[in-house]
Amino acid sequence: MLNIQSHVSLKPYNTFGIDANARYLVEINHADDINTLLQLSDFVNIPKLILGGGSNVLLCHDFDGLVIKMNIQGIEVIREDDDHVYVVAGAGVGWHELVLFCVQHGYAGMENLSLIPGTVGAAPLQNIGAYGVELEQVFESLTAVHTRTGERRTFLHADCQFGYRESVFKHELKGQYIITGVTFQLDKRPTFHTRYGAIQETLAEMGISDDALSIKAISDAVIRIRRSKLPDPAQIGNAGSFFKNPEIPKAQFDTLKGQFGALPGYPIGEDTVKIPAGWLIEQAGWKGYRAGSAGVHAKQALVLVNHGNATGQELLALAKQVQDSVQEKFGVSITPEVNII
Ligand code: FAD
Ligand code: EPU
Repeated sequence: MLNIQSHVSLKPYNTFGIDANARYLVEINHADDINTLLQLSDFVNIPKLILGGGSNVLLCHDFDGLVIKMNIQGIEVIREDDDHVYVVAGAGVGWHELVLFCVQHGYAGMENLSLIPGTVGAAPLQNIGAYGVELEQVFESLTAVHTRTGERRTFLHADCQFGYRESVFKHELKGQYIITGVTFQLDKRPTFHTRYGAIQETLAEMGISDDALSIKAISDAVIRIRRSKLPDPAQIGNAGSFFKNPEIPKAQFDTLKGQFGALPGYPIGEDTVKIPAGWLIEQAGWKGYRAGSAGVHAKQALVLVNHGNATGQELLALAKQVQDSVQEKFGVSITPEVNII
């Protein structure tokens, strides 16, 4: 039985804590609920917004349509072979809950992705990544339902066109499929990824020597680093990194490096360098900036924050000012990672 509510505040449904309203909201607990929903003639032609944990959206106005809040639960091991364990999880499962399940059972591959907010169903959308690992490295397939026809489809890795914070679901198929479940391929024998960021120093601080290394230790280290750097949405509204880190041609990087000697850069292949947008934004003078309730986080300039009652429009205007000033100072364009609704 579907419970379609009307005139619902979305404030509890987005981690920015934006107080926008939805004309209708429905919670989906089973994939079949979506087919039931699509048979209701009143809802066929109205705009739809799929929401998981609301940790990567900026709501810029009231939503005059139907918000579909994904709540499909369940984590299950579906098969295994000599090397791998295959785990399927419902779209509404909390991402970190799934990571903890895998870490506890010794299924390796997701530990570097510990403590990323949000749901399993949203994770393929931007191919979530952190500390040297991306979702695509553990992704096997996903199931989805077409938002208009109700057709069910399985997407394999090659169908998803994964990239850095990208997938087909943000482009050609944007808004067309509701992801209902994701299957992951985890390793029975771990490969430890400890080279990125402060993982090694943090493991040392935790007293973990190389021979005591485990996926649990890496997960704990990542959790520790994240808690020290990123604002907790329960304390202060935010959606993590607001912008993606730009990838620029090596020649442009070399010129900028000549002007700004401290500019960090990470080579991507031979001709491209990824640069931290947080560094650019900090150097442009925005770190800790605040106008009313909209601000730039004081510890991580890549994170825009809502100190209380900011509107989506206020945060969007701040994002535009930040983009313009980075463009002006460095000639580099930074684009939002967050989905602007
Ligand atoms: P939502 O915000 O609800 O939705 C995001 C987008 O996905 C929307 O366009 C929505 O329509 C769509 N969507 C949601 N569910 C579905 C579905 N079932 N089917 C189809 N479309 C769907 N991200 C990283 O990659 N790495 C990080 O390290 C990271 N750190 C973060 C730290 C903080 C403090 C915060 C607040 C966010 C961080 N994020 C990070 C961003 C965010 O956690 C991820 O993008 C996450 O996958 C969003 O999940 P969600 O369920 O909250 O998605
Ligand atoms: N930096 C600054 N000032 C700042 C912030 C960052 O100078 O205020 C510079 C520093 O040089 C630092 C570098 O930026 O060494 C990188 O910073 P950090 O390690 O904090 O990572 P990030 O590039 O800002 C990315 C992801 C995060 C992910 C971390 C760890 C993107 C857009 N963001 O952030 O993902 O958790 O790396 O892997 O790729 C997210 O997507 O929401 C997110 C939080």
